[in-house]
Amino acid sequence: MKILTVIGARPQFIKAAAVSAAIQQTDGIQEVIVHTGQHYDPNMSDIFFKEMSIPKPKYMFDLGGLSHGKMTGRMIEKIEEACIKEKPDYLLVYGDTNSTLAGALAAKKLHINVAHVESGLRSFNMRMPEEVNRMLTDRISSLLFCPTDLAIENLKREGIQYNDVHWVVKTGDVMLDAFRLFQPYSTKIEGLPDQFALCTLHRAENTDDLAKLTNILSALNQISDEINVVIPLHPRTAKVIEKYNLKFAQGVKLIEPVSYFEMIGLLTSCSFVLTDSGGLQKEAFFAGKACITLREETEWVELVESGFNQVVGSDKSKILSAFKNIENVKVNPKLDLYGQGDSAYRIVKELMKMQKEFG
Ligand code: UD1
Repeated sequence: MKILTVIGARPQFIKAAAVSAAIQQTDGIQEVIVHTGQHYDPNMSDIFFKEMSIPKPKYMFDLGGLSHGKMTGRMIEKIEEACIKEKPDYLLVYGDTNSTLAGALAAKKLHINVAHVESGLRSFNMRMPEEVNRMLTDRISSLLFCPTDLAIENLKREGIQYNDVHWVVKTGDVMLDAFRLFQPYSTKIEGLPDQFALCTLHRAENTDDLAKLTNILSALNQISDEINVVIPLHPRTAKVIEKYNLKFAQGVKLIEPVSYFEMIGLLTSCSFVLTDSGGLQKEAFFAGKACITLREETEWVELVESGFNQVVGSDKSKILSAFKNIENVKVNPKLDLYGQGDSAYRIVKELMKMQKEFG
């Protein structure tokens, strides 16, 4: 069986590392990797391939830094060419980025079955490009790998359920696999304060809205009076900060984007997490840390219901009151919310099973 994997953005490299490792340990399955180039800086891309031994992409495009339409359109064209050349049995995509949607569309129109990892997640906010990407990808996927029961319910509500068109399977979350697999390689970054809050910020809804961004920065500056805040800065956010000459207090330490091993190190040594990332909310939980989510809603509601995650958006007073409450949040990373860390194997098993049944 041949699989064409399409990845392009940082979180996809991490998820693909776990699944590629499982593919490599399985007989009778060959993986060809396509990198769209959506993320292209060495510390947003190359470092992840090296560190996690992800197989080298056979196809590498140069399609980052474009508008949504241009980026997605050009990706479809290039991925279509790769599909025609490789004739894969399945095209495998991850998550909710423009690379995900482009891969799914290119394959489906060539009647190649699409397999979607991290299927069924919803924020119910259609202004997010990610929500559009994942809904459309789920609609045209044949194999839908869901991390949670809620993801399966979300799909059902949209009329997508297990039948001969959609093979919907709960596999658990591959990010837990990756976290467990790479935790032994956790790397410490030198020169950081002993105690700090870890913050990441890159969502378009925050970075493209100056009022929201300045509210968040003002809250972070105030928090840094009590505890240092370390921010590995995403290029999107760095550009906006430079453009508007936004200022940080002394207690806020900006660093370059970090590798996955360094991120595990930061998660291990931080006091708590503030983020608008999807993945980091879960990684905070895996590391046993409380999270404050700088978005209006989250796809990972299990963490909110368990009391581990406070979703506060960009409202300064809400961020600060979540901070005041942070000491009361006790996170139990052993709670089974995202499976057993064997999702990558389950995914590979399902792919083999489907191939046997449907060819
Ligand atoms: C993308 C995903 C988002 C995911 C995130 C992870 C979409 C719609 N969004 O958002 O779901 O959570 O990746 O990081 O696909 N840039 C660089 N260097 C890089 C990468 C990006 O300078 O290596 C710049 C781009 O030129 C652009 C900006 O950062 O100006 C945003 O990049 P883009 O890939 O469009 O979206 P992300 O914000 O990274």
